[in-house]
Amino acid sequence: MPSLRDLILFASCLFFLLFSSFKPSFSRVAPFVMRISCGARNDVHTAPTNTLWYKDFAYTGGIPTNGTRPSYLTPNLSTIRYFPLSDGPENCYNINRVPQGHYNLRIFFGLVAESNFNNEPLFDVSIEGTLVYSLPSGWSNHDDEQAFVEALVFLEDGVASLCFHSTGHGDPAIMAIEILQVDNRAYYFGPGHGQGTILRTVKRYSCGAENQKFGVDYSADRWGGDRFWDSLTSLGQSSDSTISTASSIKLASVWPNFYPEALYQTALISTDSQPDLVYTMDIDPNSNYSIWLHFAEIDPSVKGVGERVFDISINGDLVFRDVDIVKLAGNVNSALVLNTTVVVSGRSLTITLHPTKGNHAIICAIEIFDMVPAESKTLLDEVRALQSLKSALGLPLRLGWNGDPCVPQQHPWSGADCQFDRTSNRWIIDGLDLDNQGLRGLLPSDISKLQHLQSINLSGNSIGGLIPSSLGTIPSLEVLDLSYNFFNGSIPESLGQLTSLQILNLNGNSLSGRVPAALGGRLLHRASFNFTDNAGLCGIPGLRKCGPHLSAGAKIGIGLGVCMSFLLIATCLTCWWKRRQNILRAQRIAARDAPYAKARTHFNRDVQMTLQHARTAAENRPSLLS
Ligand SMILES: *[C@@H]1O[C@H](CO)[C@@H](O)[C@H](O)[C@H]1NC(C)=O
Ligand SMILES: *[C@@H]1O[C@H](CO)[C@@H](O)[C@H](O)[C@H]1NC(C)=O
Ligand SMILES: *[C@@H]1O[C@H](CO)[C@@H](O)[C@H](O)[C@H]1NC(C)=O
Ligand SMILES: *[C@@H]1O[C@H](CO)[C@@H](O)[C@H](O)[C@H]1NC(C)=O
Ligand SMILES: *[C@@H]1O[C@H](CO)[C@@H](O)[C@H](O)[C@H]1NC(C)=O
Ligand SMILES: *[C@@H]1O[C@H](CO)[C@@H](O)[C@H](O)[C@H]1NC(C)=O
Ligand SMILES: *[C@@H]1O[C@H](CO)[C@@H](O)[C@H](O)[C@H]1NC(C)=O
Repeated sequence: MPSLRDLILFASCLFFLLFSSFKPSFSRVAPFVMRISCGARNDVHTAPTNTLWYKDFAYTGGIPTNGTRPSYLTPNLSTIRYFPLSDGPENCYNINRVPQGHYNLRIFFGLVAESNFNNEPLFDVSIEGTLVYSLPSGWSNHDDEQAFVEALVFLEDGVASLCFHSTGHGDPAIMAIEILQVDNRAYYFGPGHGQGTILRTVKRYSCGAENQKFGVDYSADRWGGDRFWDSLTSLGQSSDSTISTASSIKLASVWPNFYPEALYQTALISTDSQPDLVYTMDIDPNSNYSIWLHFAEIDPSVKGVGERVFDISINGDLVFRDVDIVKLAGNVNSALVLNTTVVVSGRSLTITLHPTKGNHAIICAIEIFDMVPAESKTLLDEVRALQSLKSALGLPLRLGWNGDPCVPQQHPWSGADCQFDRTSNRWIIDGLDLDNQGLRGLLPSDISKLQHLQSINLSGNSIGGLIPSSLGTIPSLEVLDLSYNFFNGSIPESLGQLTSLQILNLNGNSLSGRVPAALGGRLLHRASFNFTDNAGLCGIPGLRKCGPHLSAGAKIGIGLGVCMSFLLIATCLTCWWKRRQNILRAQRIAARDAPYAKARTHFNRDVQMTLQHARTAAENRPSLLS
C-alpha cells in the first residue's frame, strides 16, 4: 500500500539535520532545500556542483527502477519511480515537515529504461491539489525544459503534496523532486499574490547567453530557488544580435528575487534594419500570465539618461511607456526589473519593445508565468475521516485515494462525491458510493465526521461488526444502504434520529434484535426501508414478532412482584405450618385428656377446671369450632 509515512519520517529527520546545526547569526538563514532522487537506494551526489539528492527508498508507493533521462537538463540520476495504473490513478509524494513558506517546486520526469515500455507517459501533475501541468505529447523528444515542471507555491501546513494523475497514457514516471525555499515576497506581482495563486514557470530566458544554466551554475544566491534559465540567442531572422559585458552589475542579486548578476551581463539588442525587438510564443489560452522583463544598460554606446527610450507592449497593448533603463535603474550597468500581469484569451503571446529614442531596444531576460488559481482543499476533518475509512475497510489501490479527495477537480477520488461549501470555502463530501468494492473489516465510527453526507452506499461488500451508532449524528443523511454485508448486533437506536432518512437498506446482513421504534414509526412517512434477510430482526410488520417487550421499569416492577409473591407464599406457608402444629398439639392434648373431652360440654366445663386447661382451650377454640 502506498503509505507515505516512511518518506514523511525521512523528511522530518532531514529537517532536523538541516536545522539542528543552525546557529542564529546576523547573516541570513539558509533557505530550506530538499532534493529527492526518486527510486534511489542511496543518497546521490551529482557533478559538477556536487548537489546532494536524497534517496526515497523508504517510500512505498509506485515502483523504483532504472530510468533514462529524457533531457540533458535532467539531473544525472539513474533511477526513477513509476506508478502503474494498477496502483491507482492518483499517486502522491507528501513530503512532511517542510517549514511554512514560499517555495520553488520542481519535478523532473523520467522514462523507464526498458525498451518494451511505452516510453512516453502523458499524465497530469498537481501541486497542493491544484492541477499545474499536463504533459504534452512529444515532451520527451524535446531536449528542453519540458522535461520538468516548476512552480512557485506557498506551503502553509508543513506538507508539500505533489500528485501524479494517470490519464490512461502510460505510467507516470518521476526522476527527481526539488523543494527550494524562496523569499515570501519573491515574485510579488501585486494584490492576489500569496496562497491563492500558483505561478507555474512557462519560460525563463537569459537573452544572449550561450548556454542554458541553473542558478547553481551561476553561483547564484541560494534564496533564488536555483532557477533554470534557458538561453535565447536570437528572436529570429537576424533582427537582433547578442551583446555582453564583463563589468559588474549593480542591484542584481537583491531582495526579494536575488537574480544572478550574470543574467544582466548578456543581452539581445535590435539591429538597424529591425529596431523593434519582438518575442512571440504559443501559449495556453484563457489564462492570466505574469511577465517579468529584465534590463541593464550594458551597451557601451549608451552613457546616460535619454539616450535609449522604448515602449513595451504585450499583445498590442502598451504596458510600459518610455522605458529609460539608465534613468529607472539609476545608472548604466545597473539592473532593472519590470513586471506586469496580462490576460491572454488567444493562443499566442507577443512582447514588443519599440524604441522611441535611440534606434535599438535591448533586453537581458524574460520570465513568463502562468498564474494558476489555487484550488481550495477539502475540509480537513473529512479528509481524515476518509483516510480512516480507507485503512479500516482495506480500500483497493485502484480507487486511488491519495492526495486531496476533491481536488484537482479533474481527478477526484473515485467513490467520494464532492461539493463546494461556500461558507467554509472548502470542499465537502456529500456522498459515498463504495458498493461492490470488496471492502472488508469494521465500519469505523469516524465515518460520522463526514458530517455533510447525504448518501452512503456500501452495499455488496464484506463489512462486519456493529453498525456504528455515530451514523445517527449525520444530520442530512437521506440514503443509507448497508445491504449485503456481514453487519451483526442490533440496529442502533440513534438511526431513529435521522429525520431526513428516506432510504434505509439493511437487508442481507446478520442483524438481530428489535428494529428501533422510531424507525418503525418513520415507515409511515413514505420512507423506503428494507430489513429483510436478517435472521434475528423483529418488531415491525413483515418481520417476526419480538418476545415480550419490557422496559427497565417494568423489569424492576416484575422483580419486586416476584419478591412480594415469594414473601406472601412464605408467610402463608409459615401460618399453615403453625396452625397444623397447633392442631396436632391440640389433638395430642385431646388424646391425653380424652376422659374429659368426650363431649363438647364436658370439654367446656373442663376448661374452667384448671388454668392450663383453660388457656389451651381458648387457643384451640376457633379450629375446634370451625
Ligand atoms: C538497474 O541497473 C543496475 C546496474 O546499473 C542493475 O544492477 C540493476 O539490476 C538494475 N535494476 C533494475 C530493476 O533493472
Ligand atoms: C552521469 O553519472 C555517471 C555516474 O553516475 C557518470 O559515469 C556519467 O559520466 C555522468 N554523465 C554526465 C553527463 O555527467
Ligand atoms: C510587480 O508589479 C507590481 C504591480 O505593478 C508591483 O506592485 C510590484 O512591486 C512589482 N514587483 C516587483 C518585485 O518589482
Ligand atoms: C484573470 O484575472 C482576472 C482579474 O484580473 C480574473 O477576474 C480572472 O478570473 C483571471 N482569469 C483566470 C483564468 O485566472
Ligand atoms: C447501492 O448500490 C447498489 C449496487 O450498485 C445498487 O443496486 C443500489 O440501488 C444502491 N443503493 C441505493 C440506495 O441507491
Ligand atoms: C459480529 O461480527 C464481528 C466481526 O465480523 C465478529 O468479530 C463478532 O464475533 C460478531 N458477533 C456476533 C455476535 O456474531
Ligand atoms: C428487500 O430486500 C430483499 C432482498 O434482501 C428483496 O428481495 C426485496 O425486494 C427488497 N424489498 C424492497 C421493498 O425493496
